[in-house]
Amino acid sequence: MSSSYPDLADKVVLITGGSRGIGAQTARAFAAQRAGVCVVGRDQGALDAVVADITAEGGSAMGAVADVTDSASLARVRREAESRLGPVDVLAAFAGGQGFPVPSADLTEERWRQVLDSDLTSAFLTIQAFLPGLLERGRGSILTMSSAAGRRPSQANLAYGVANAGLVLLTRQLATELGPRGIRVNCIAPSSIRTEKVLARMPPEVQEQVAALHPLRRMGTPQDVAHTALFLASDAAAWLTGLTIDVAGGRITQ
Ligand SMILES: NC(=O)c1ccc[n+]([C@@H]2O[C@H](COP(=O)([O-])OP(=O)(O)OC[C@H]3O[C@@H](n4cnc5c(N)ncnc54)[C@H](OP(=O)(O)O)[C@@H]3O)[C@@H](O)[C@H]2O)c1
Repeated sequence: MSSSYPDLADKVVLITGGSRGIGAQTARAFAAQRAGVCVVGRDQGALDAVVADITAEGGSAMGAVADVTDSASLARVRREAESRLGPVDVLAAFAGGQGFPVPSADLTEERWRQVLDSDLTSAFLTIQAFLPGLLERGRGSILTMSSAAGRRPSQANLAYGVANAGLVLLTRQLATELGPRGIRVNCIAPSSIRTEKVLARMPPEVQEQVAALHPLRRMGTPQDVAHTALFLASDAAAWLTGLTIDVAGGRITQ
């Protein structure tokens, strides 16, 4: 990791969706800046592997198993993280990823509610769980995770697009409300990122076609997203709030 943000050293960073993919890479990136990291997900084994990676590199990390659609579990995670690492300075609500295509005519009510819960309500509940502490200390940085699918119509299912569009407004409105209280809120909207899950589902020829859709002629990497997260959380972005950054290789339409 080449970026260096000295102000992130000794900060406490909590990342939901930290057990794999973009969130795991972001956790490694913050740990490499000497932040203490708590990764949250449902898969204990995957969380243990991320924590082991970070500690093997000399970093400080813990895992917390929780379903982030459940506010009681999030309250428990906050207690666990604070007792082991201290108050959270940077909150990255990255869990989600229910974007696989479903024609809207086949999108059931149950599925619609489940995607909204997983990809939008989860971020609201995560922020609600940690907001009292951030407000009490009068400082902090919140990162939300949208998607290119929330910026324009896409092949992802409609509920995922709507949830991710909602995250953009959630970010702007919270930034307006919390800015005077010393808390910044910013959002990252990646296009196609080469996570394990995406690569497993996308044949190589499709990966090439997707890469060609981007002016920079490649898919993104989890590192591309992690670099953006470090920047937004750091003092280098001290006067930035309410933004959504399209980490999209130039494939932007607004
Ligand atoms: N990859 C892309 O191309 C791309 C593009 C745009 C946006 N995004 C967004 O980036 C975020 C991460 O995506 P990814 O591609 O890295 O996905 P991924 O590899 O499938 O990882 C998803 C992560 O979210 C966690 N998660 C999901 N639902 C959860 C729940 N209810 N409770 C707790 N943890 C939950 C998973 O934890 P467990 O598996 O441990 O439960 C896992 O750590 C998502 O919000 C996704 O919408 C991804």
